[in-house]
Amino acid sequence: MSDEPQTLEALEAELTADISNAGDEAALEAVRVKALGQKGLITLRLRSLGQMDPDTRKIQGPLINGLRDRLSSALSAAKSVLATRALAARLGRERIDITLSPRPDDFGTIHPVSQVSDEIIEIFSALGFVLAEGPDIEEDRYNFTMLNFPPGHPAREMHDTFFLDGTTEQGERMLLRTHTSPVQVRTLLANKPPVRVIIPGRTYRCDSDQTHTPMFHQVEGLVIDRNIHMGHLKGTLEAFARAFFEIDNVKMRMRPSHFPFTEPSVEIDIGCKRSGDEIRIGEGDDWLEILGCGMVHPNVIRNCGLDPDEWQGFAFGCGIDRLAMLKYGAPDLRAFFDSDVRWLRHYGFHGLDQPSLGGGLSR
Ligand code: PHE
Repeated sequence: MSDEPQTLEALEAELTADISNAGDEAALEAVRVKALGQKGLITLRLRSLGQMDPDTRKIQGPLINGLRDRLSSALSAAKSVLATRALAARLGRERIDITLSPRPDDFGTIHPVSQVSDEIIEIFSALGFVLAEGPDIEEDRYNFTMLNFPPGHPAREMHDTFFLDGTTEQGERMLLRTHTSPVQVRTLLANKPPVRVIIPGRTYRCDSDQTHTPMFHQVEGLVIDRNIHMGHLKGTLEAFARAFFEIDNVKMRMRPSHFPFTEPSVEIDIGCKRSGDEIRIGEGDDWLEILGCGMVHPNVIRNCGLDPDEWQGFAFGCGIDRLAMLKYGAPDLRAFFDSDVRWLRHYGFHGLDQPSLGGGLSR
């Protein structure tokens, strides 16, 4: 403050200029404090009214109060202008250009297991199958009993099952599902046939070496309808193998096998040629096992409340990781689950290359 007491007009002119010079909300707040804060220029004048004689006060009172009111409204008007301007600036800064095309190179890659699952789903969708899923933590009855593994049956021992502590309220043992086949039962309990489902998912067995990991992936197929026979199974799997391996002629053979939930049961081999570490699918005189399958056992159909004389079908189950290793030449299964970025860059897929039968499965 200068020594000469400022006139109210001069004070108003000064503060009004301060307000219009304030470039942001902080500067404006400083002007407010200067004028109306505890020791503000206007506050002090308002306080001085008390010491004035009544006649002076009568004149000065309305003048000072009027000045305070005008400045208050000028301050709040300026404040809202600055706030709007700040918001506009921020919105400008934070704008996302949604017309900008994504740059998938920044996103990492699609894991071969995801890629192969998508390829399999794509192929079976085109054959009229729909996707189904079930839980990883399963009850004994769905994983075994209803699939015709009676309690104590030796086939149970072949599954190296991870059991969980405790039981359900109904006394069922809980476990990590050892295959995707329990979803066959769940699907048949929840849906009236005809049923045509494809079921990808995680499965667990207590096993670990170059070609086995404790968690792995399977895909299950199930068809239940009237008058279904092995010919339908064979035709479906041949169509699958041609589409999946992207070759017109895939040699295929069925070998008798055993699963408690299929009768007859077979394993499917496809023709291949091995030279050193390399495997070529579709040529040569070697055979490679790719999946287990068969006609759904009448006991399973009965366990799901259906009459096996009316409804029959086939099922197959296949290791997704194994198919990915075969198709894309990754030698060690354990590397699939190491999350090593160098491996993922090498074996992963471009995020925009969605497998499609029309546009190419693997490109
Ligand atoms: N569930 C079997 C396995 O894990 C595979 C299979 C599925 C066999 C469906 C026949 C029918 O080995």
